[in-house]
Amino acid sequence: MSGHNVWTHKGTFLLAAVGSAVGLGNLWRFPYLTGENGGGAFILIYALTIFAVGIPIFIAETMLGRTSRQSPIMGMRHLTKTHKTSRAWESIGWLGAAAAFLILSFYSVIAGWALHYTWLMLTGSLVGADATTISAGFVALLASPGLMTLYHTLFIAFSALIVGLGIHKGIESGLRIMMPALFAILIVVLIYGVINGDVGAAANFLFTFNIADLSLEGWLQAMGQSFFTLSLGMGAIMAYGAYMSSEASLTRTAIAVAFVDTAIAMVAGLAIFSLVFGAGLETDQGPGLMFVTLPLAFADMPFGALVGGVFFILVLGAAISSSISLIEPVAAFLVERFDMTRPQAVTIMVVAAWAMGLLTVVSFNVWAEGTIFHALFERSAFEFIELLTNIFMPLGGLMIALFAGWALTQSEVMKELGTNITWFKTWRLLVRFVGPAAVSFVFLRTIPQVEGYVVPTLGALLIVGVFALSQRLRKSA
Ligand code: PFF
Repeated sequence: MSGHNVWTHKGTFLLAAVGSAVGLGNLWRFPYLTGENGGGAFILIYALTIFAVGIPIFIAETMLGRTSRQSPIMGMRHLTKTHKTSRAWESIGWLGAAAAFLILSFYSVIAGWALHYTWLMLTGSLVGADATTISAGFVALLASPGLMTLYHTLFIAFSALIVGLGIHKGIESGLRIMMPALFAILIVVLIYGVINGDVGAAANFLFTFNIADLSLEGWLQAMGQSFFTLSLGMGAIMAYGAYMSSEASLTRTAIAVAFVDTAIAMVAGLAIFSLVFGAGLETDQGPGLMFVTLPLAFADMPFGALVGGVFFILVLGAAISSSISLIEPVAAFLVERFDMTRPQAVTIMVVAAWAMGLLTVVSFNVWAEGTIFHALFERSAFEFIELLTNIFMPLGGLMIALFAGWALTQSEVMKELGTNITWFKTWRLLVRFVGPAAVSFVFLRTIPQVEGYVVPTLGALLIVGVFALSQRLRKSA
């Protein structure tokens, strides 16, 4: 297929997938979710879901990419033909592309905040600042559409540059430099946290298991996070899988990605909470944990400005290595479908996502209330876009699991998986039943009106429904 070659080395997919997986989800979302949901119990559920749902769906998604060797949309079209299934499954590709586009639009704005804080840290502007000053600074950033647009533009343009250079010269080379640097920085920040902070309290907080902390909401958040953090359900992993060496093991690679991703989230959590506890600050500040609490911790510590600056560079790098994986599926589609050059395709995707991102920018200030989004959906444009992606992501994952587990010709799937029959059957059980059941719960949680017993009932109905549908959609083997 034109434009579709293979990564340089057998292990490059692992590097690329880790690059995609490790991002704001690990450094920003995981710590604050753990903080809000009481620590160890949350991590246990998170780890369980990664294992029982995340890894099997990761394997399925990579497999779809690798067998089709095309971008998600074209790849799904190809698979529905070769496996003689319903064309309706092609929607997996479209849903993924839409989700990637929407996520990129706001991911870039939030990553832009990290750019702002890198600058503030390295110029020493926050040294010795108190809590009021730092909170006011964050509020002022959110109140400034101009500044936010500037950072958003810089971030997305840099990501576009990398993808525009192609999968070898751009993505591979970029990741080869970025990823080891990110690991090194994370270790430096951890050591700094251990020396200057309170690592004992952090470890206690993260790893102490308290059954009373296990709320249903926490369960669902943990499941949603396991999806987001592995970049599942939106074609990113499928697009990268299209370039994966046929010799690499799908199962081993998936386990390795999940392991590294989880380890990084834990190390980041340990480092961040060491600093937070060391400075005697609150753990449950939600999204502000990274942009208010941490700067405050750095403001008071020896070499805080320098280490804080380096920390925000880590956040930026991790966000870039994820955002490029959001550009790739759509760009590759435009190249394949319309014969565009890569720079053209990347430009179209990125300019559109940039424009969409402006909606997120204004959602924090001039359009913070009273817009059509508030009237129709009772939320800002940003919150609405986020809600959409929260629906698309699990839905995409659910459909990928069903397509791989039910619709594809299973003898082919087994060949592609290249494992023994016991693992194949276990994997299939997970993608056929366990994954769809778990995902249905995550999915239903995003519908705010649904509560109490209605959730499990609807969940069960949905599972039966999709099961029946997947049987119908499977025309012949
Ligand atoms: N996995 C990324 C993170 O944890 O920050 C977020 C992400 C990247 C989600 C790419 C989806 C995706 F396709």
